Amino acid sequence: MLFTPGQAIPTLLFVTLVGTVFVLQFGAWGSALTRRLLRLPAPPPPPRWVVVLGRVRRPLFWVGTVCILYGWLVEPRWVQVTHHEVAIRGADAATDPRLRIFHLSDLHCEAKRGPWAEAVVAAAREAAPDLAVLTGDYLNVVNVTPTAGSLPGIVDDLLRALPPSTPVLAVRGNFDIWGRALEVLRERGIRVLDNDVEALTLRGVPVDVAGLRVFDEAKPLALAARFRPGALTVFLHHMPDFLPEAAETGADLYLCGHTHGGQVRLPLYGALLTLSRYGKRFEMGEYRVGGTWAYVNRGLGLEPWPAPQVRFLCRPEVAIIDVLVKRP
Ligand SMILES: [Fe+2]
Repeated sequence: MLFTPGQAIPTLLFVTLVGTVFVLQFGAWGSALTRRLLRLPAPPPPPRWVVVLGRVRRPLFWVGTVCILYGWLVEPRWVQVTHHEVAIRGADAATDPRLRIFHLSDLHCEAKRGPWAEAVVAAAREAAPDLAVLTGDYLNVVNVTPTAGSLPGIVDDLLRALPPSTPVLAVRGNFDIWGRALEVLRERGIRVLDNDVEALTLRGVPVDVAGLRVFDEAKPLALAARFRPGALTVFLHHMPDFLPEAAETGADLYLCGHTHGGQVRLPLYGALLTLSRYGKRFEMGEYRVGGTWAYVNRGLGLEPWPAPQVRFLCRPEVAIIDVLVKRP
């Protein structure tokens, strides 16, 4: 989780601009109200630049207010199911098997059930995937207690919605180094890969999944040494920060989250803040590094308070990834 100067400067500029507009507008309203209540005489006409500033300030204030209300009330509950297809090693859609991966990330569950939960469960039922992967940040700090809220219920519903034979694999996020989130997953039979490799066979295809533990990452090369020859190889990590290293091992896929796609995105600029060591380079979506296809999931939940409880131009995401694999 890194706050680099390249991300800090635009973020601080944006927050300062928004804060200034709101302070000036409320200040103007406050002084008008005070004058009226105290029956003060009308002030002298302001200089021209103050008049011009007022004309700019008022529309900015109302546009900002509408955006904040939309980002708070609408977007966090408006789940987008995204579909992706990737062919590995020249696989052919007509003859080679297609493995479906259901990818969730950054649930950030609070005590109350997330507004995205029902859409996610419905998407799991409809997708009927061969493999489900969860790439970290399951609970927000505020409810990392033995009575933690909605995560157990959501995981139970998710497991009921998936086909019974679907393996579910997880890695920990930066919010999962304290608390009970991983216990909740493990109690339900979900395998948490902490610098470990799971060897699967899906539709007759050997699939090796390596999970890198956040903040204590084994070298991807060390885990890749355990991959079976000819297997489809997948790295899971919470962050995109080890994508180049994983690509050097020749892995087929790298799936992660963490950036939330910025959570607040500006038109034409994208994510203000990713908290990745690569800044905006892997902010969200599909990437290809060497022979590795990567997906950076925008996640479902929100960074905990006091971070703004909004998503803007960055809807919660369920990613469904169809992987065409050359039959060994
Ligand atoms: Fe997160």
